[in-house]
Amino acid sequence: MKTLFALFAACAASLSMSQSAWSADIVGNAKAAETKVAMCVGCHGIPGYKATFPEVYQVPKLGGQTAKYLENALLAYRKGDRTHPTMDGIAKSLSDQDIADLAAYYAKQK
Ligand code: HEC
Repeated sequence: MKTLFALFAACAASLSMSQSAWSADIVGNAKAAETKVAMCVGCHGIPGYKATFPEVYQVPKLGGQTAKYLENALLAYRKGDRTHPTMDGIAKSLSDQDIADLAAYYAKQK
């Protein structure tokens, strides 16, 4: 009985891990991005408060774009295909997982 329970617990643990920690196949995790967007909000607006912001936007709106679009833009900055003084530096500091997470996060914003 004890063994069965341990097995079950191990299973449950690996199931929940597959949601966030498996990086072999990179899947964007919007939840994980919540701590990462801290470095974006200064320029790209405060998540959840964008409705009051359009007038002060001096930078592209990220919320509501598709994840693929955002991912491509960030990868282009990181590779140097697209350049911008600040975005270059930021994109270079992001891992593939960061980019996928951030793209998933912003794609969910309206
Ligand atoms: C210092 C200000 C600043 C910060 C911080 C910043 N950005 Fe940007 N971002 C910009 C500007 C300005 C542009 C437009 C640059 C251009 O014209 O290529 C831009 C463009 C982008 C684009 C392309 C959008 C489009 O429609 O083509 C994406 C995607 C993006 N940023 C994502 C991010 C993410 C994700 C973060 C946080 C990890 C971040 N940015 C942090 C200023 C910033």
